[in-house]
Order: sequence, then structure tokens, then C-alpha cells
Amino acid sequence: MTTLTVLPSGKTYEVAAGTTLLKALMDAGEPISSKCGGEGKCDTCHVSVPVGRKSLSKIQRLENAQLDGIIGIGSNSRLACQAVLGEEAVTVELLS
Ligand code: FES
Repeated sequence: MTTLTVLPSGKTYEVAAGTTLLKALMDAGEPISSKCGGEGKCDTCHVSVPVGRKSLSKIQRLENAQLDGIIGIGSNSRLACQAVLGEEAVTVELLS
């Protein structure tokens, strides 16, 4: 299990390692979009991860290509559907 903190609400959740950020956020009832259903094709699940990036799964080619097309991408950017939680605490900021 790991701790997921969600901004701007500041709420924290205990989440099983191996869960995608998208699933964790949806299960928690946080407002996150997923127009493509989590296939890494729509960019609507774009989030910022200011803390714990190294605990997440590495960015793969599909995600990297999608992130490249997003205006306003930052070094903390991830697609929530492609980022899998590890054992260390993560803070995620919802962007839309
Ligand atoms: S839900 Fe579409 S890219 Fe993540």
C-alpha cells in the first residue's frame, strides 16, 4: 500500500501498489477525465506529480508521444492512466 495525496483538495488515500493513478483517482471519486478509457490516447487524464515521481512506473513510448502533444506540459506531467503506483507516497495535482 502507498499513500496518494491529491491536490488541490489535499485529501489522502491508501492505495495498493500496482494500481494506475487513474483507477486510484476514480475509485476515490476525484474529478479526473478519461475519454479514451485509459488507453493512453486522449490526454484528458493529464496530471502533474510534484512528489513521488520516482515511485511511479517509467514513462513508456505511447505516453511519451501523447505528452509531447500537450500544451503546457511540465517535467512533472504524467498521463494518469499510464502511471502505475509503487510503494512510495505520491502527490498528484489535478489540472482540469
Ligand atoms: S485516459 Fe485517455 S490518455 Fe489517459
